[in-house]
Amino acid sequence: MSAITGAAMVAGIIGRPVTHSLSPVLHNAWIEAAGLNAVYAPLAPTADGFQALVNGLRGGVIRGVNVTIPFKEEALAAADELSDRARLAGAANLLLFRADGTVFADNTDGLGMLGALAAQAPGFDPRSGPTVILGAGGAARGAAAALVLAGAPEIRIVNRTFDRAQALARDLGPAVRAVSVEAAPAGAGLIINATSLGLGGGPGPEIDLAAAPLSAVVLDMVYKPLRTEFLRRAADLGLATVDGLEMLIRQAVPSFEAFFDQAPPAGVDVRALALRAVGETP
Ligand code: ATR
Repeated sequence: MSAITGAAMVAGIIGRPVTHSLSPVLHNAWIEAAGLNAVYAPLAPTADGFQALVNGLRGGVIRGVNVTIPFKEEALAAADELSDRARLAGAANLLLFRADGTVFADNTDGLGMLGALAAQAPGFDPRSGPTVILGAGGAARGAAAALVLAGAPEIRIVNRTFDRAQALARDLGPAVRAVSVEAAPAGAGLIINATSLGLGGGPGPEIDLAAAPLSAVVLDMVYKPLRTEFLRRAADLGLATVDGLEMLIRQAVPSFEAFFDQAPPAGVDVRALALRAVGETP
């Protein structure tokens, strides 16, 4: 391990809880492989302590932070300047602290999703047909924003609480609409689980995947377990699948670039490291 000195560049992740975050595993593995004098630290403020922590970090105290549950919306509100995709998503997973004291908010979750699709479903084009998003929380909003910006022609939101699906559709514009779970799969090119269903090994969202075309791609944002019940159901039908761990790794790449002004080094098997960290065999 290269020495971390008093001149080290510092970045981190703010969440509550933050103990199970995989981001420190990914970023510190890249830091070490690149031989950087840098450290990526977990930060867990009290429930009402996010704003004070961010204010204390202003002025270049540290390079930047990733932000995770439950602070992604507060992160947006704490920033002085927003990227278009963060504004559209209504949430930020990345804050950069500038030397002049200002804070820039970005959202790389959507890039992570598109990167995971490109890696595990090569040839898939989000412009080619309707997308179904199951869920209407922050994760669904981030996915919908990225797909709108990628030129998706139609995004169908399915949610247990229909009002929330309608609110999301209203916020994101004419390509996005709230639909019933029965109406959703017909003709879909992509189906995304953005709910928490399936986390910890339980059943995934209820949707008739057999009613989707055989060409449909199914993506699950849940990555614990890696092969969720939802992805197993899709694979059993012969549909292409994309897992949530790939999405997590892909959102970390532009964050690393923003913190340290260089791409993560090639040749680090961060997927295997992350799998080991969640107790799965790589
Ligand atoms: P996140 O920021 O991760 O998206 P969230 O805002 O709490 O978290 O959203 C969780 C999503 O999972 C919501 O779409 C939620 O549906 P509701 O809007 O009806 O709450 C969905 N969800 C969670 N548990 C669910 C369950 N048991 N059945 C159906 N949907 C569920």
